[in-house]
Amino acid sequence: MRIGILTSGGDCPGLNAVIRGAVLKGTEINDQEFVGFKDGWRGVVAGDIRPLERSDVRGIAKQGGTILGTSRTNPFEGNGGPERIQETLDRLGIDAIIAIGGEGTLAAAKRLTDAGLKIVGVPKTVDNDLDATDYTFGFDTAVEIATEAMDRLRTTGDSHSRCMVAEVMGRHVGWIALHSGMAAGAHAILIPEQKTSMEQVAEWVRSAADRGRAPLVVVAEGFTPDHADDAHSERGLDAFGRPRLGGIGERLAPMIEEITGIETRATTLGHIQRGGVPTAYDRVLATRLGMAASDIVQEGAWGRMVALRGTEIETVGFEEALGKLKTVPQHRYDEAAMLFG
Ligand code: F6P
Repeated sequence: MRIGILTSGGDCPGLNAVIRGAVLKGTEINDQEFVGFKDGWRGVVAGDIRPLERSDVRGIAKQGGTILGTSRTNPFEGNGGPERIQETLDRLGIDAIIAIGGEGTLAAAKRLTDAGLKIVGVPKTVDNDLDATDYTFGFDTAVEIATEAMDRLRTTGDSHSRCMVAEVMGRHVGWIALHSGMAAGAHAILIPEQKTSMEQVAEWVRSAADRGRAPLVVVAEGFTPDHADDAHSERGLDAFGRPRLGGIGERLAPMIEEITGIETRATTLGHIQRGGVPTAYDRVLATRLGMAASDIVQEGAWGRMVALRGTEIETVGFEEALGKLKTVPQHRYDEAAMLFG
């Protein structure tokens, strides 16, 4: 069987380890051949492929980004759509697709599978917001990077007796903020799931400062203070029509300073969280998911994706994978909040 692999949507560390896992298992055990689609669905629609043999994936598990490139192309736009894509696959002699991507990618994969294409999925979201899988690769790396950055912010905050605000990724959910904030000993963690008043934030900041600590406030980009209706966005829409987030930290800093009188600085970590080498945990998870993706292609499990459940790799249907966001449950936030202030 000849399989085309694509990576689509925002990148994150571990994508290359998935590709390598699938190619190694596929070529060595499952008698499969591989090609790579360049730049996600764009490569599928345009029939733009590159070779993907064992030698092409040598040493890439530790490499950040994706050797295939990625984009947020919608495969139903332009020259896309199921019939044309199937014609392209037939012309290229490709029997099936492994689509590595998040919500948007898997939604497109589901529509194409419903129309008869042979596709399996591998979940990818640095925000760790897909309910159908316990963890996604890239998340652990992002948390490590954010934690290290916060440790650094704390020493400069201490030197100047300042309040430091660290903004991390997290469009709909606050997992990166919760984990990195807990690891760094933050005095407040603000996440999209919990609307919080500025008075409450100021109380936590004052309480930390009163104990002689330089307050650290961690905020997820999708956080909405209780006086606002929507998450802060000032850079228009992305290719999926979603508001580009980012900048809430810079908005909060002057408000905190004004209410508390404590000099405050904000740092937005942004795409640094998605770059560079994956952690060992992410490499292992990504490799296992890639290997399992090769296996489910062999089984012909079209319309299903691999997922981590506990410590085992299982499979779930696209519809289940798309059904629900994995938000931070109340008890996990309350547990962290006991340490605020
Ligand atoms: O969905 C993952 C994510 O990193 C979000 O946390 C963030 O809002 C978005 O992608 C950024 O996307 P882009 O790389 O297109 O700027």
